[in-house]
Parts: sequence; C-alpha cells; structure tokens
Amino acid sequence: MIEPTRQLLTAGNSTFLQNTVKQLLGYGWSISHAVNAHEAMELLDKEPCQVGLIAIDPSTSTLPLEIDSSPRLADISWVAIIERNGLSHEKTRERIFNTCYAYQVHPVDARKLDTLMESALAMANLLGAHPLPTLTSLDDEYHIVGNSPTMQLLYRTIAKVAAASAPVLITGESGTGKELTAHAIHTHSPRRHGPFNVVNCGAIPAGLIQSELFGHEKGAFTGANQRKVGIIENSQGGTLFLDEIGDLPLDLQVNLLRFLENLKVLRVGGLKEIPVDVRVLAATHVDLNEAVGRGDFREDLYHRLNVLQVRVPALREHLEDIEALAHFFFQKFSTEKPTRVCGFSHECLTVMLQHHWPGNIRELVNRVRRSMVMCEHKLITPADMGLERRHRLSRDIDTLQQIRDAAEYEAIRAALVRNKHNVLRASLELGVSRVTLYRLIEKHGIEKNGCPDELQTIHASSR
Ligand SMILES: Nc1ncnc2c1ncn2[C@@H]1O[C@H](COP(=O)(O)OP(=O)(O)OP(=O)(O)O)[C@@H](O)[C@H]1O
Ligand SMILES: [Mg+2]
Repeated sequence: MIEPTRQLLTAGNSTFLQNTVKQLLGYGWSISHAVNAHEAMELLDKEPCQVGLIAIDPSTSTLPLEIDSSPRLADISWVAIIERNGLSHEKTRERIFNTCYAYQVHPVDARKLDTLMESALAMANLLGAHPLPTLTSLDDEYHIVGNSPTMQLLYRTIAKVAAASAPVLITGESGTGKELTAHAIHTHSPRRHGPFNVVNCGAIPAGLIQSELFGHEKGAFTGANQRKVGIIENSQGGTLFLDEIGDLPLDLQVNLLRFLENLKVLRVGGLKEIPVDVRVLAATHVDLNEAVGRGDFREDLYHRLNVLQVRVPALREHLEDIEALAHFFFQKFSTEKPTRVCGFSHECLTVMLQHHWPGNIRELVNRVRRSMVMCEHKLITPADMGLERRHRLSRDIDTLQQIRDAAEYEAIRAALVRNKHNVLRASLELGVSRVTLYRLIEKHGIEKNGCPDELQTIHASSR
C-alpha cells in the first residue's frame, strides 16, 4: 500500500473525473475536491497543493474553476481531462494551452496519468525555489510576497502589532508596501471583519479634508445640501489608514489629535460628539521627526501616532525576494491578459539584482508590466524591462579601473544574494577559491549577511 502523501486538488463534475479520481487514490494521491474558486482557496489555506486535475465539459468548453481569477490557483500545475470532441473547439484548446501543464483525453489510463501528475508535481517543486507568500490575504490586491529573513521580520512585527489596539506608524520609502502592510495589520487583527478605509491625506484638497474625515451636518457650509458621514465614523468597528499623514494640514492635526484622545467625532456644523470605535494606522515616507523639528507636524500628534512602529524595508534590503516578486507579478499580469512570454531570462534576473530600485516594489511592478508588453521572445530580457547592465555603472564612474571594480562588486554581491550568502557556494559559482572570495568581500566592504549601503560601497570601492 502506498502512503497517500501527494496532495491533489480536483475540480469539475463529470463522471469521468470521479472514475479517474477513484483510480488515482490507489496510486497514493490525497485528493480534495473543490466546486468553485472560493472553495478551492479555502482548501488551499488548509492544505497547500501544487497539482490539480480538472475535467473540462465539452458542451460549455469552460474550465470548472476560474483559475485566472487568482494567482494562487494559477500557480497550480493543472492537468485537464477532456473528451476528444472537446478539442475541436478552438477556445477550449486555447484555454488549455494558456492554463494547464498538460491534458489527457478521456478515457485516461490511470498509470499514465499518475506519471504525468508526478511530473507536474516535480515541475511545481522547481518553482518552490521561489516560495510564495508567507503572509497571505485572500484578497489578491493585498497579497504579500517575500520569504527573506527581512520580510519574515516584518511579518512577525505585523503579527505583534495586529494583536494590539494602539495606533501604528508605518514608515518606509515610496513603493515599499506600506499600504499592503496596513491592510495586513487589519486582516490579522480582531477588527478584520470590520471595514478597512484608506484616506490619502496628500490627495484631498485642504478645504475638503475636514468634512471627508469628520463629516458634516446639512447646511454646515455653502454647498452642504445634506448630512455627510465622515470616513472616521464610517470606519466604525474597523481600521482607518491615514496615508501620507505628513501632508495633513496643521489645523486638522489638532482635530485628529482630539479624536485620538477621546475617540469621538464632531461633524462640521454638528453639536453632538459621536463615539467611534476605530483603530488608526498612519503611514509616511517623510521623516516625521524632522517635520516636527521644522514645525510642520505637531509633536503631540506625532507621539500619539507613533505608539507602535513598523518599518517597511526597501527592496534593496531584501533582494533575495526579487525573483519571487517578479514571478508573482508576471503570473498576475499573465492571468489578466494571456501572454506567450514564458518568464525571465537568467541575465534579466541577474540585472534585477544589480539595479538600485529607487521606486522599490512599485517600480518592479511597472517594469514587469512593461516588459510583458515589450517582449518579442519567450524570455524577458533586461532591455524589455528597461534595465541595462551598465545602468548603475554609468553613474559617477569614468575610468576603466572603476568600471572593473564596480562590475566585480556587482557580480560578487549578486552571487552572494543568489546563494543566500553562502560564501562557499558563491565562490564555486564565481569560479574563485573561498579565500579569494573572502578577500574580495573584504576589499569591497560587502556585508556577508545582508546588503550594505549600496551607493556608499560602490563609491568607496571604485574611487
Ligand atoms: N511584498 C509585496 N508583495 C507583493 N506586492 C507588493 C509587495 N510590496 C508592495 N507590493 C505592490 O507594490 C505596489 C506598491 O505598494 P504600496 O502601495 O503598498 O506601497 P506604499 O509604500 O504605500 O507606496 P507609496 O509610498 O507610493 O504610497 C502595490 O502594487 C503593491 O501591491
Ligand atoms: Mg501608499
């Protein structure tokens, strides 16, 4: 008797699927059946699964699950079973081609299918080298990717602050995932069933922000034709995320402080304070401490908001995740719009490790999207992403020796990241002895367990 250790997700209602499933049980597959995408996601939450079997109904030519609707479903290696006449429909053939690892025509030979599923599993395990999210949200818009120690630390911090109820100040460079982090705090908090509302303090005109946040009574000012409930009141029982809090005008900072102190709002033109049970999260990409020093931000509000802090790392601090992130966005965009492009070239992945990423993950999102439009081959090249190997080297560097030094630095750093900072493995990849690599690491001032301040190091090493 074979131990059932291999997980298989099935979907579809045809009798031929049921017969096939019965036979596969004898080959040691542990099988879960989903009737729709939602149920499939719930099953995946309980038991991760990398291969799936779907029966395609030839009369409708549709797939039984909306695989395209979710990157998690699209990540599964699907094998389709179809009746021969189903293949005469062009649409069906196209869908199988775009979504499935392989297909079998009914009636299937269970032994052959078992071998095919095993090979699908082996292929999926190859992808395991780019592990997908540790902290997931069923809402794909807020899916967090990254398994590096740096991101693990972020997840642990999120879990801790989610359990508390005090305000949280989320800091980090532009495009690092501050809003994603705020959403993750909400979904891991006891308030997860309440609303998650976002206010971008920099995007609302100064004259409107008071009534946006606190609401107004009918007739409170010219144009206030009816009562308006503000976003704070609308967040009752949930979380309010104040993005770009540094842009909140000083007069409103006083009102926000008052609210945070007594958790009551007074609508503009209103007489009665209304209690609101809401947790406030705020984010900024500017240094609020400096803004306080300049007199642009109230110190008392700063301390109120800064009870708990979460710092979202820049992408260059967790380059180990770049491949998983790039693959994630690639999958996401290819489910939005089918593409014949298969992935990234090796050179492209290397150049991604060398880029400085001033726009962080948002820049990566945009470059992947662009590359999928520009690419004319099966694999995306650095040029498709608008990245050049010379890109970083061109800044401030003019002599041949400086270019050599900078290239050496880049190659060593990329090899260390690829090999998870294992010096022996990186030295084998680079074709130098371990002692030589240690010497070069020291020469360039590269930290073995993390990334140094890149610019400082590259300048120091090339001047
Ligand atoms: N770890 C991650 N996994 C997957 N997607 C991510 C991750 N981090 C950021 N993103 C994506 O990058 C983009 C920017 O993220 P987000 O808006 O949360 O950043 P931000 O720090 O709030 O940016 P800004 O400073 O511009 O407001 C979004 O499309 C988001 O989905
Ligand atoms: Mg943001």
